Amino acid sequence: MLTGRGGVVTGWGIAVPDKVVTNDDLSATMDTNDAWIVERTGIRERRIGGTTSGLAIEAGRRALEHAGRTPDEIDAVVLATTTPDAIVPGTSATVQDGLGIAGGAFDVNAACSGFVYGLSVAHGLLAIGARRLLLIGADTLSRITDWDDRSVAVLVGDGAGAVVLEAVDGPGQLLSWNVGADGSLRHLLKCDHGGYLYMDGKEIFRKAVRVLVDSALQAVSEAGLTIDDIDLMVPHQANLRIITAACQRLGIPEDKAVMVIDRYGNTSSASIPLALVDALETGRLEKGANVLLTGFGGGMTWASAVLRWGG
Ligand code: ACO
Repeated sequence: MLTGRGGVVTGWGIAVPDKVVTNDDLSATMDTNDAWIVERTGIRERRIGGTTSGLAIEAGRRALEHAGRTPDEIDAVVLATTTPDAIVPGTSATVQDGLGIAGGAFDVNAACSGFVYGLSVAHGLLAIGARRLLLIGADTLSRITDWDDRSVAVLVGDGAGAVVLEAVDGPGQLLSWNVGADGSLRHLLKCDHGGYLYMDGKEIFRKAVRVLVDSALQAVSEAGLTIDDIDLMVPHQANLRIITAACQRLGIPEDKAVMVIDRYGNTSSASIPLALVDALETGRLEKGANVLLTGFGGGMTWASAVLRWGG
């Protein structure tokens, strides 16, 4: 159990582009089909469009409104993204300006693990005196996708999810966290300057299940809990089969895992907050529930956190 000054989520919001692209839409332009995509990935449709900053601003504005906070009350924007609008400046600067945030702004790039990395960093800031933070996960993978490459194009979607984190005296809601990386695997998922997203899907699949399970087990144990104490799991939404395999190995019933991949595809840094907000808005997350957030992504990176909802 962490002690000292902690944080509590007081507001949340998401933003996704209006444009829905179904599997049938994709099979009209490339050699793929709905049955293959659903069976191999669980994805039925995805939202495509917008910019990372535009989606982040929209999600951030909703989270602020929901928390009843104004931009001048926010000490920093922490933006998890792996598809920044530009190389320089950080996309968080555009978000800061767009929302009129009074405090600082910086990007965190840990690919699909970014939101949980950002959550950990944000709690560090709260522990050393920040009062309120806006944490956003936003990505537009569609902008770095070769729409003739079916091995990647069927997987990706765009979106953003945001939370307002407020400092509290005492441990707050974060019971445990861990972040990990193995840069010797960086060739498995990459996008060079000016290039397209490349991934070795099979190898990532194999590695992902292992790192997800190890990281999740470490987080649960360091929270002083057992797997049976976990009420809800919010995994990175890369592939339904990865989530199913991870649930089996962890011994978590699949109905405790939040799945939004059918609607959104892989939205990278946005995937965990999109799933978290879905759970909140469908009444699956009540005060006092133990929530496991767990993700993996390019790098390779991985990260998990256990929250006791509501602190
Ligand atoms: N439509 C139809 N057929 C396809 C498609 C497609 N879109 N893509 C591949 N195929 C074919 C292949 O050519 C192959 O045909 P063959 O047997 O004649 O050679 C067959 O389907 C099987 O292909 P595999 O690549 O073996 O399929 P697999 O079951 O491994 O599924 C997938 C591929 C979905 C990519 C899977 O490996 C996966 O999800 N991997 C993990 C991806 C992931 O998690 N990425 C992390 C992203 S995180 C981030 O940071 C962005």
